[in-house]
Amino acid sequence: MKINRVGHIGIAVEDLDSVVNIFEDVFGIELEAKHSAPDQPVEVALLKTEGTTLELVTPTDEESGLAKFLKKRGNSIHHISFEVEDIDAALSHLKDKGVELIDKEPRVGAEGKRIAFIHPKSCAGILIELKEKT
Ligand code: CO
Repeated sequence: MKINRVGHIGIAVEDLDSVVNIFEDVFGIELEAKHSAPDQPVEVALLKTEGTTLELVTPTDEESGLAKFLKKRGNSIHHISFEVEDIDAALSHLKDKGVELIDKEPRVGAEGKRIAFIHPKSCAGILIELKEKT
């Protein structure tokens, strides 16, 4: 299994716009895009730096896992996303290793790319997302 790079860092936030403003004003990182995800109750803002992207996510459904995470932890890092060439190959490699997956099959993420989440149980409590490059 080959990880290309850290594609993005997912940060859960209560108020998307106020956090976008902080990153823009304080650090001069520009907002690249803002959108909703096709199959998740979230709004997303992407802030690109040269090496990686910051993905700010806020829940649109108060009952979602992300909403519960925010209530418990407040604004905080939520997941790390690894970019892979072939997500099917990566998932079958992880299944062979006995890694517990949240998404056994890839689904379409916020940018129209195929993604899958690995259960934090299998990674010391850290939530990892795989995202296919193309
Ligand atoms: Co993500």
